[in-house]
Amino acid sequence: MKKIAFLLGICLSILSCNSTEKKPLKNTKETALVMYKFSEMALLMEDMYLANEKLKEKILKQEDLGSFPEKFINIHTAVLTDVNDRTASFEVFSKALITNQKAIYSSSTDSVKNQFNTMVNTCVACHETTCSGPIPRIKKLLIP
Ligand code: HEC
Repeated sequence: MKKIAFLLGICLSILSCNSTEKKPLKNTKETALVMYKFSEMALLMEDMYLANEKLKEKILKQEDLGSFPEKFINIHTAVLTDVNDRTASFEVFSKALITNQKAIYSSSTDSVKNQFNTMVNTCVACHETTCSGPIPRIKKLLIP
């Protein structure tokens, strides 16, 4: 029993912050593990990733960027997989992200790419302190 718990522990840690790729699910046991792993914060992060992928496209095509997605504010309240991750520095990075994300929508055409990359670097900066797994994926958002 201990051995199983240990193996589950390993699977969980591989599936969460340490992994960048997700493997296809083979059975219901793994499905249960994956459901467990998606905390409110993890879901929000995936949402923010997708929203910023779309935003990047719009910037590159010089389309209308719309407005700041209010759901990003939930970074201040979303429940984390590990509640201890919500430290003082986590709050500082959260505020910086919101400020830098908002600034994209009011940036001039000349500075919008820079502002977008500043925002992406804020994602990376926080991840360096809490959850390094997704960093390579997040860096793909950067506009060259
Ligand atoms: C304030 C710190 C912080 C900031 C800023 C931040 N993240 Fe995260 N991110 C985390 C933490 C902590 C987790 C782990 C969440 C959990 O497991 O509950 C995470 C998880 C993720 C994940 C993995 C979710 C999963 O599938 O498990 C992705 C992808 C991600 N973040 C992308 C981003 C992107 C893109 C940004 C910028 C728009 C960003 N993050 C900004 C701290 C941060």
